[in-house]
Amino acid sequence: MTPNLFTGWTDRHTALFGNHTIKLGHRLAETGLFSEEAIAALIDEYPEDKYNLNSMGPDPRNKVWREGNVAGNSGKQVLQAISKGRMWINLRRVMEVDPRYDALLNEIFAEFEALVPGLHTYRHNLGILVSSPGAQVYYHADIPGQALWQIAGRKRVYLYPNTAPFLEPESIENIVMGTQEEEMPFETWFDAHAEIHDLKPGDMLHWPLNGPHRVVNEDCLNISVTTEHWSNDIRNAYAVNYANGILRNHLGYAPRNRDTSGLSVYPKAALTLAWKKMKLNKASEFVRKIDFHIDPARPNGMQDVAAYLK
Ligand SMILES: [Fe+2]
Repeated sequence: MTPNLFTGWTDRHTALFGNHTIKLGHRLAETGLFSEEAIAALIDEYPEDKYNLNSMGPDPRNKVWREGNVAGNSGKQVLQAISKGRMWINLRRVMEVDPRYDALLNEIFAEFEALVPGLHTYRHNLGILVSSPGAQVYYHADIPGQALWQIAGRKRVYLYPNTAPFLEPESIENIVMGTQEEEMPFETWFDAHAEIHDLKPGDMLHWPLNGPHRVVNEDCLNISVTTEHWSNDIRNAYAVNYANGILRNHLGYAPRNRDTSGLSVYPKAALTLAWKKMKLNKASEFVRKIDFHIDPARPNGMQDVAAYLK
């Protein structure tokens, strides 16, 4: 097939997909869905429970980050505040808010599946991330399959191996169980083992499952799209990590088998399902309070407020 959304896709990318990093061109900007005007209009109507607004410090090892609220400002004002502050807004699950993004998301994965024989994906997700000049996303790992699509501005993405010491088994187990945020301890020497990719508008990056990464913006406003997907392999990896977390944290047993395929997956998937049905882990899930509001009139675009629950 001839790709429509990707540019430069070759057999090499088909062979690498899912197990190694691929970097390609894309044409998402041509849809007009990710211009500043289109995103400002989305923010104007965006449901409170579907976005996160965060601010962060400058040190990659000192992970101080805060949760904020747009506080009635227009989308245009929010973008203006982000362009002079040190923040990002993450519009989550955009495909549930506006059907145009749902149609695009379906097209993206139809194209991936047409290009990668045997690939079957589901539970697709599309997010839009607008972030400040110089903003950073701390070292972390995500649970589903991930791709990052750069629309405007430039950023440097550091990708690390998805094995210890970069990704410790305890970390990914706690992340899938929801008892730890996606962030993990980071040492600057990790960078010597990172793949470094500079993304410019029109670049797309997809990396191996759970691969730890961090991102640093250049000195310009950034607009990026994130997509997520699941497959049977990803679901099995999730179930095994979750079950290993139950064994380690609640049953006092240090799991040594991290196979995400083969016979050991099935009892672990059953344990995960049984545990989730009991909802025993709910009380330990992480909650963050809102302690700033967008204020485009202030130099850093934000106003501190007394912390409150969302
Ligand atoms: Fe991520």
